[in-house]
Amino acid sequence: MSHIPVLLNEVINYLNCRVAKQTFIDGTLGGGGHSLAIIKKIYPLGKLLALDLDKDNIDNFQQIINKLPYKKNVLLFNDNFVHLKKIIYSLNLPPVKGILLDLGLSSMLLEDSGRGFSFQRDEPLDMRYCNPPIKGSLTATDIINTWSVSELDRIFWQYGEETNHQRIASVIVKARLIKKIETTQQLVHLINQIIPVTRKNIHPATKIFQALRIAVNQELINLTEVLKQSMDVLSPQGRLVVISYHSLEDRIVKRFFIQQNKLRRIRILTKKPIRPGKEEIQYNFRSRSGKLRVMEKI
Ligand SMILES: C[S@@+](CC[C@H](N)C(=O)[O-])C[C@H]1O[C@@H](n2cnc3c(N)ncnc32)[C@H](O)[C@@H]1O
Repeated sequence: MSHIPVLLNEVINYLNCRVAKQTFIDGTLGGGGHSLAIIKKIYPLGKLLALDLDKDNIDNFQQIINKLPYKKNVLLFNDNFVHLKKIIYSLNLPPVKGILLDLGLSSMLLEDSGRGFSFQRDEPLDMRYCNPPIKGSLTATDIINTWSVSELDRIFWQYGEETNHQRIASVIVKARLIKKIETTQQLVHLINQIIPVTRKNIHPATKIFQALRIAVNQELINLTEVLKQSMDVLSPQGRLVVISYHSLEDRIVKRFFIQQNKLRRIRILTKKPIRPGKEEIQYNFRSRSGKLRVMEKI
C-alpha cells in the first residue's frame, strides 16, 4: 500500500523550494512523496535531509533515489526527529531553508505494518513507530496490561478526548485479570461493550487507538520538542511547514506559532490552517483531517 502525499502542491509552494545552495528537511519521510517532490525542485544545488523512525521507509526511499540522479544530494537517517538539531549540527550542510513535518500515520503503517495501528485488522497491539524496535521499549500491550485504571483513564481522556474514558478503562482492567489483552480485536471487543458500533458515528475504537499511539510514541512531547529545535536549525527566512491530523497536535503547533510570533521571532504565513479541498479528499480520503500551518523565521 503506497501513501499519497497530502497537500503536496501547498507544501512545495510554502517551502519555497528552488535551486540554490540550501538544505531542506523532511522530518517524516514516510512513503517519500513529499521528499521526492522537494528534491526534484532543489536539484542539483540543494540538499535534502530526511528522517523516519521506520527503517523500511528509509530503505524504500534509498532504492527509489538510487535509480535517479539526485542520490548524492539526499541524506537519509533512520532516527527520531527529536534528534534533528544534533543531526544537523553533526553535518556540514548549507543553510536550512525549509522543514516539513507531516505528522502521524502513513498508509503503510495502517495497512501493512502488522503493528496494530488499525482497529480494522487483527494484529498484535504494538503501535511503535520505531522499526526495528528499540529492545524493551514501551508497547500498547504493556500499557493496556500494566498501567493502572487511573493512568488508562487519563490517557484515554487527554490523548483521545474520549468521553467514555472511565468506563473503558475499568472494562479493560477487569478483562485483563481473566486474560492478557494482546491483540487489536481483543481491545476492540472490549471498547464495543461500552460503545456499540453505529453507522452514524466514527468507529468507537478510533479515539482509544489514537490515545494509545500517542502514549506509546510520546507524540505530543516529541512534537513540542521538534518545534523548539526547528527555531535553532532554521536560518533566517527559513520556513517550517507542519501538517497535523488531530486537534491535539494542531493546538500545539498553533500555540507555538502564536507564542513565537509574539516574541517577534517568526511570521505566521497561514492565519487559518490550510485544508485539503473536496477533490483531494475524493482521491485521498485519509487527507480529510489534515491541517497545514506555516511559519517563517525572521
Ligand atoms: C504521515 S507519514 C509521512 C508521509 C510522507 N510525508 C509521505 O508523503 O509519504 C508520517 C511518518 O513519520 C514517521 N514518524 C512519526 N513520528 C516520527 C518521529 N518522531 N521521528 C521520525 N519519524 C517519525 C512515521 O514512521 C511515518 O512514516
